[in-house]
Amino acid sequence: MRIINCHTYEAMSRKAADILAAQIQLKPNCVLGLATGTTPIGAYQGLIKKYESGSLDFSEVRTYNLDEYRGLTHEDPQSYHYFMNDQLFNHVNIDPANVHVPDGANTDADAACADYDRMVAEAGYCDLQLLGIGRNGHIGFNEPADEFSKGTHCVDLTESTIEANSRLFEKEEDVPRQAYTMGTQTIMNARCILVVANGENKAQAVRDMCFGPIVPTCPASILQLHPNVFVVCDDAALSLC
Ligand code: GLP
Repeated sequence: MRIINCHTYEAMSRKAADILAAQIQLKPNCVLGLATGTTPIGAYQGLIKKYESGSLDFSEVRTYNLDEYRGLTHEDPQSYHYFMNDQLFNHVNIDPANVHVPDGANTDADAACADYDRMVAEAGYCDLQLLGIGRNGHIGFNEPADEFSKGTHCVDLTESTIEANSRLFEKEEDVPRQAYTMGTQTIMNARCILVVANGENKAQAVRDMCFGPIVPTCPASILQLHPNVFVVCDDAALSLC
C-alpha cells in the first residue's frame, strides 16, 4: 500500500483526480470503478476541470459503480446513479451507454446482482477502482461480516451506515435498508485501487485498513493483500496511523 498524506481535502482531491486522469490518458478506453459518498466529490470536480480545459476525453471510458440502493430508480435524486450523473457524468463527454450502476429498480436481487457481475466480468474488471471508506471500514456497501464477500450481492445496511448516510436524506426513515454492492473479490480484481479518505471520523477505519489484522470485520483490511493500492488522505484521516 502506498499511503500519501496530502494534508488537506483539496490537495487529496487534486491527487486523486491526477491519478484518475493519468489512467484515462494512458488508456482512453479504460474501465473505471467509481464510488459515491461525499469524499470523492472533490476528485470528480477535478476531473470536470481537466475535461473543460481540454486535457481529458471520456468518450471511450467505461465506468462501473460500486453500489446502489435497492428499490431506487436511476431518476430518484437519492439514488447513486443520480448522484453520479449530477457530480460527474452530466459534465463530461462520457457515453451514457458506457456508464454502469447496479440496477436498484430491479428488486429481484439475484437477477440484478448476477447481471452486474456478468457485465463487470465481460468488461475484464476495472483498470482503476476508486474507493471511499465507511466509518466502520466498509468498502462499497460491503459491511463488517463473518467472511469476505465475493461477487455482487444484496446487503442489509448496518445501523451505523444508515445513520451516517441519513445526512443525505430528509429523515433517517427514508434511507433504504438494503443495497446492491460489488463484492470484495470483484473489487480486488481491479488492477489498481485508489482509496480516498478525509476527516477525523475516518481515522480509525484508515488505521484498521492499513495496519490492522486482515479480517472481514474490517472489509477494507483485505486491501493489504492487493499489490497496487494508493491510499490518499488528509492529515485528519491519517491522525491515528
Ligand atoms: C457509502 C458508500 C461508500 C462510501 C461511504 C463513505 O456508504 N456506499 O462507497 O465510501 O458511504 O461515504 P463518505 O465519503 O460520504 O464518507
